[in-house]
Amino acid sequence: MKRVAVILCAVFSVALAAEEVEIPKYMKICNRKSENVNDCLKTAIQDAIPKVSKGVPELNVPVLDPYYVALEEISYSNGMMQGKLLMKEVNAYGTSRAKILKVKSTFSEDRQRLEVDVLFPRIFIDGEYKAEGHLNDFKVGGKGFFNVSMEGVKTVWDITGRIENDRWVVEHFMVLPEVEKMKVYFDDLFNGDESLNNIARSFINEYWPLFYRELLPIASARWDKMMTDFANLVFSKLSYSKLFA
Ligand SMILES: *[C@@H]1O[C@H](CO)[C@@H](O)[C@H](O)[C@H]1NC(C)=O
Repeated sequence: MKRVAVILCAVFSVALAAEEVEIPKYMKICNRKSENVNDCLKTAIQDAIPKVSKGVPELNVPVLDPYYVALEEISYSNGMMQGKLLMKEVNAYGTSRAKILKVKSTFSEDRQRLEVDVLFPRIFIDGEYKAEGHLNDFKVGGKGFFNVSMEGVKTVWDITGRIENDRWVVEHFMVLPEVEKMKVYFDDLFNGDESLNNIARSFINEYWPLFYRELLPIASARWDKMMTDFANLVFSKLSYSKLFA
């Protein structure tokens, strides 16, 4: 009986140990009861970004700058416009140059919320795409390379979650980026008609805020899910009481 208990205990502690990863040395610990916890978190996050964006294998964090997406599909349907956009071999550059402007934290017995104001001075995205759709009865589509350069991308990371078994279980990670400047390039949206494509490119580069505003809610819901999963990969391995002392 005693032997079984010892074995169970050993198995259990191995399982526990496998779940908890030592907090990386470069991660500054902030005491949530301290008066200047927000300033501490601001520095902690700012300092961690360049290191974390190179990837942290023991926390399952991939390389974040450039952030690589093999395949992404978006369907869109609204009134006159329907379409499907397939993106391949996408890389997003520039996330490691994020500036943390401000952190506001809210702690309670069993919940935590962080609101982090972030500025990305420049983000560049490129990849391959395939598009097909309709604009009224007009068929549009094409494929090739695309790129998007953005400047002054500002957002709040609004991260909320509960504290459970000494882990921060993130429930939502919301982002709603505002973009100061955007320039879009794509090879072909009109099945090879270069002059129509030039018109479309100019049009989109002139009126991108309209398109952006239209796509933001769709993108935002996706990002919430993606960022929440990502945050939980990390925080499910770190002891809450050690990280937030
Ligand atoms: C986007 O791609 C086009 C075509 O390959 C290229 O001419 C342009 O310089 C690229 N944009 C940026 C900002 O690199």
